Amino acid sequence: MDIHLVILAAGKGTRMKSARPKVLHRIAGQPLIEHVLACAATIHPRSTTIVIGHQAGDLTAALAGHHGLTYVVQEPQLGTAHALMTTEPALAGRSGTLLLLSGDVPMLTPATLQTLVNTHETAGAAATVVTAIVENPHGYGRIVRTGEQIARIVEQKDASPEERQIREINSGIYAFAIEGLFDAVRSIAAENAQKEYYLPDLVAIYRQRGAIVETVTVSNADEILGINTRVELAAVSRIVRDRKTAELMADGVTIEDPATAYVDTGVTVGADTILHPGVSLEGRTIIGRGCEIHSGARICDAHIGDRVIVLNHCVIMNATVADDACIGPFAHLRAESDVRANARVGNFVELKKTVLGAGSKANHLAYLGDATIGEKVNIGAGTITCNYDGVSKSQTVIEDGAFVGSDSQLIAPVTIGKGAYVGSGSTIRENVPAGALAVSAGKQRNLDGWVARKKKNKSGK
Ligand code: UD1
Ligand code: CA
Repeated sequence: MDIHLVILAAGKGTRMKSARPKVLHRIAGQPLIEHVLACAATIHPRSTTIVIGHQAGDLTAALAGHHGLTYVVQEPQLGTAHALMTTEPALAGRSGTLLLLSGDVPMLTPATLQTLVNTHETAGAAATVVTAIVENPHGYGRIVRTGEQIARIVEQKDASPEERQIREINSGIYAFAIEGLFDAVRSIAAENAQKEYYLPDLVAIYRQRGAIVETVTVSNADEILGINTRVELAAVSRIVRDRKTAELMADGVTIEDPATAYVDTGVTVGADTILHPGVSLEGRTIIGRGCEIHSGARICDAHIGDRVIVLNHCVIMNATVADDACIGPFAHLRAESDVRANARVGNFVELKKTVLGAGSKANHLAYLGDATIGEKVNIGAGTITCNYDGVSKSQTVIEDGAFVGSDSQLIAPVTIGKGAYVGSGSTIRENVPAGALAVSAGKQRNLDGWVARKKKNKSGK
């Protein structure tokens, strides 16, 4: 049967107390709704419709990278049943199964989604509800059963004291037969504590008509945790990160303190790499085998080779580091930096759009921006590429085997030829030919006996 996906994401998210739409808050580096879309993609829906509310523009902008999404604006937001009704025109003429997901329930697994579809279609149900049995059901709709059968769902605010004891909850995730669905939803009334149109009321309506309503109860209730508050956001983040670190450890990564390793879902790490406490690996970062990443490192959208050592407190953003290189401590690799094999970037060194060739070293206190640096080059402490003249950026080229003495300024555009030397403290404004020595610092004068004369003058006064 065709599967059509609807994701509800129009709610105000009042309890988040945020200027940002709730479903754009992030877990493990990804907005909540991206987690939902990633799970839903595994069942290959024929169509995907997202119900959005105010700040609709923020949401569509955030999802601009996805193709084939249909947006429906629900304004005002009168409840989950009302939200589903707004998709009726978008789904006109469709048949099959409608899968309804919540944008604020991000941990659902593809396996559960598949079970939901299978159970629903095998039973020929009008509706199938995903439920869970939880320790603390507070805030969720409760599943009221008569015998084995689900009879209705009652919201927290409308539940009697006895009903509040029920620990089986509604996940807000459903499968519906599209045929007759919208007519049935239209008959839902807003007669409840919140004066909203509750989609869960559909269960009682279908059951009274004698239609088949099924349930799928997940064994791990974590899967269907909904996020309504910042506390819940943090709790779910914790669970998602624990899952990720457990996966990495199963694949041969040593994580010294999983509680403080922040590894986004999209990150890959090779076997025998060691993550020390307090590392942050973000976005699409790829880390090779046998690396060692020390505390305080933040690595984002970077590509790190094998056996690389990243010492404490480095920031590596959108950069590449090849095999056997060593970075830090306190190094900053900015966008499009490319550190080649065996190279060494040390303390307080910043790279931007710079290639540091194989075996080259910039060990201390340097700024290397818009530079192409060859192999086995030595960059002395305090070297600065002056790449910006206040109007435009220019390139510095340092060829293989060159030696740049400490405290030199290389005023771009400029080229230091192969094997050339730059004397310490030079300001280099012109190209240095291969094999030459360039010195620009003034000649040194020594004034013999100057200190003694100065002291004598002072005491004489
Ligand atoms: C809902 C269910 C509850 C269930 C819980 C699971 C209802 C009435 N209650 O409660 O039984 O246990 O989810 O997490 O459905 N939304 C809209 N438009 C609206 C209202 C909500 O698009 O007018 C969206 C929200 O953005 C959200 C989802 O629907 O993604 C659920 O809404 P929310 O207000 O969070 O419902 P809950 O109170 O959590
Ligand atoms: Ca919710």
